[in-house]
Amino acid sequence: MDPALSAEARDLLRSARAWLAEWTEEGVTSYPRPEPPAAGVEPATADPRRAAGVEPRAASPVVSPGAPASLSRGGEARLAAVRTELGECTRCGLCEGRSQIVFGDGNPDADLMFIGEGPGEQEDKTGLPFVGRAGELLTRMIERGIETARTEVYIANIVKCRPPGNRNPLPDEVAACRPFLDGQIDAVQPKVIVTLGKPAASLLLGRDVAITRVRGTWHEYRGIPVMPTFHPAYILRQYTDENRRLVWEDLKAARARSLEG
Ligand code: URA
Repeated sequence: MDPALSAEARDLLRSARAWLAEWTEEGVTSYPRPEPPAAGVEPATADPRRAAGVEPRAASPVVSPGAPASLSRGGEARLAAVRTELGECTRCGLCEGRSQIVFGDGNPDADLMFIGEGPGEQEDKTGLPFVGRAGELLTRMIERGIETARTEVYIANIVKCRPPGNRNPLPDEVAACRPFLDGQIDAVQPKVIVTLGKPAASLLLGRDVAITRVRGTWHEYRGIPVMPTFHPAYILRQYTDENRRLVWEDLKAARARSLEG
């Protein structure tokens, strides 16, 4: 085959695979064969997400802007102090395998704070939490699910360095990082915390929890209301209408409470 043609074929295949992965993630399970258009009638939509009743992603998300700098509540300076204290941390073994520390991301004065487990491969590469596949889903849950800019919330993890092979962080690693997570919570002073998955819920609730039992129910940590929900990586693995509805309910409840008073 002509090398230029084979390169184009590979590109087309790559792009078709990416579309299929995205539609699958968005709940498209079938693609109705388009009927040939009747004369004078607009052709049926070519977007299978619409055909399957799933609204495609808006070109630009409906989001509200973050607080102007003039309304700063001092979170930025407090977070910077926590980051300085963390330094180039060697308090546990996770420092040996990391490329970089993944501290946190978002509005230092956020009303809503999300807490995950620990950085994965993409996060370790970029230095930002939740930027891989699970992160993309979390971003969509925030931006499309509760119509809030990702930049308006604050996102952190229990541990700031990638556990090898993405295993769960060990108790001594969690203990070493905990003062810094607490420091981040105290710095941001969110009105509501959303924990993502079992480890974050267990840590903040102070006991080993079953996430299916505690999700959707209110708890408290350091005087702040806590809403546990599923981890987006779990939703990616169990991409059912029911699971997506439950997470959406949890996020809506968290958002509404963060807007109270
Ligand atoms: N999973 C997490 O818990 N945190 C991240 O930052 C990425 C994936």
